[in-house]
Amino acid sequence: MEDLEFLLKFKGCHFIHSEVNVEFLENMDDFEIREDDVFIVSYPKSGTVWAQHLLSLIYCEEYRKRTANVDTVYRVRHLEYSPDPSDLDRSPSPRLFCSHIPYYLAPRGLKKQKAKIIYLYRNPKDVMCSFFHFSKMLSVLKPSANMEEFMELFLEGKVLGSLWFDHIRGWCEHKSHFNIQFIMYENMIKDLRSSTLKVCKFLGKELSKEDMDAVVSQAMFENMKSDPRANYENVLKRRHDLRRTDGHFLRKGTIGDWKNHMTVAQNERFDKIFQKEMKDFPLKFIWDINEE
Ligand code: A3P
Repeated sequence: MEDLEFLLKFKGCHFIHSEVNVEFLENMDDFEIREDDVFIVSYPKSGTVWAQHLLSLIYCEEYRKRTANVDTVYRVRHLEYSPDPSDLDRSPSPRLFCSHIPYYLAPRGLKKQKAKIIYLYRNPKDVMCSFFHFSKMLSVLKPSANMEEFMELFLEGKVLGSLWFDHIRGWCEHKSHFNIQFIMYENMIKDLRSSTLKVCKFLGKELSKEDMDAVVSQAMFENMKSDPRANYENVLKRRHDLRRTDGHFLRKGTIGDWKNHMTVAQNERFDKIFQKEMKDFPLKFIWDINEE
């Protein structure tokens, strides 16, 4: 275990030092997985909160109908950042989780394909820009003065979640060990209904047309941004200490914002590294809102 500024390195992966439960990490392999558990796994800033909201809408009728006022964070629990992990054992089925862990830290039951995993991924330039703003806003992460500085940290994996390339490659290359469906953030932006149908099919959930309409509508960026159950503003209210500067979990929610942040030289350097690291990688990426 290595103690870096703001981060804790545990078995090669960086976690938020002040928030993570080390004892839980040490025993995570034994965390009891149930057949009907569902996990969203993602590298940070790939749309995790969006997917949390989507799962809540799919699984919980009261949430969908707005008769229940429980925040998504209590329904879709963050595996490694739960303040009281014993709570997770006591939760009724089906349990919904999100997590940023690398494939090799997954509990044994997940490696035995006991539960379903949705792996959410996003083009890494937009991930990096989103992460740059998030690290400034959140007091438990190290802020960078500019994109140049943050890009160095990101490309060296000296950030929460460690190296993006390792995370996605690891999950993809070991996918046969898991019951896993890959979902792309950009496809959700371009056609949320199709992505939601894909998620539902994988989860074996059949929604009526009316329910599907309600899910898709409430998961749209603008509707979600104004929904205090979903947009994490309640979390920031409860935990004043988490907010360093103005900012929101739901920031721009688009494809290609990296073009407003990266210089030509930075972009070229990024492309070179991307081509080397992701050679022969089977999943495709979308970098521009107008791209098919
Ligand atoms: P931006 O910072 O680029 O806007 P995570 O939840 O993994 O931290 O990812 C955060 C990113 O997902 C943010 O990206 C956020 O705006 C985006 N996001 C959250 N909800 C969204 C939605 N309904 N539609 C589009 N993007 C969304």
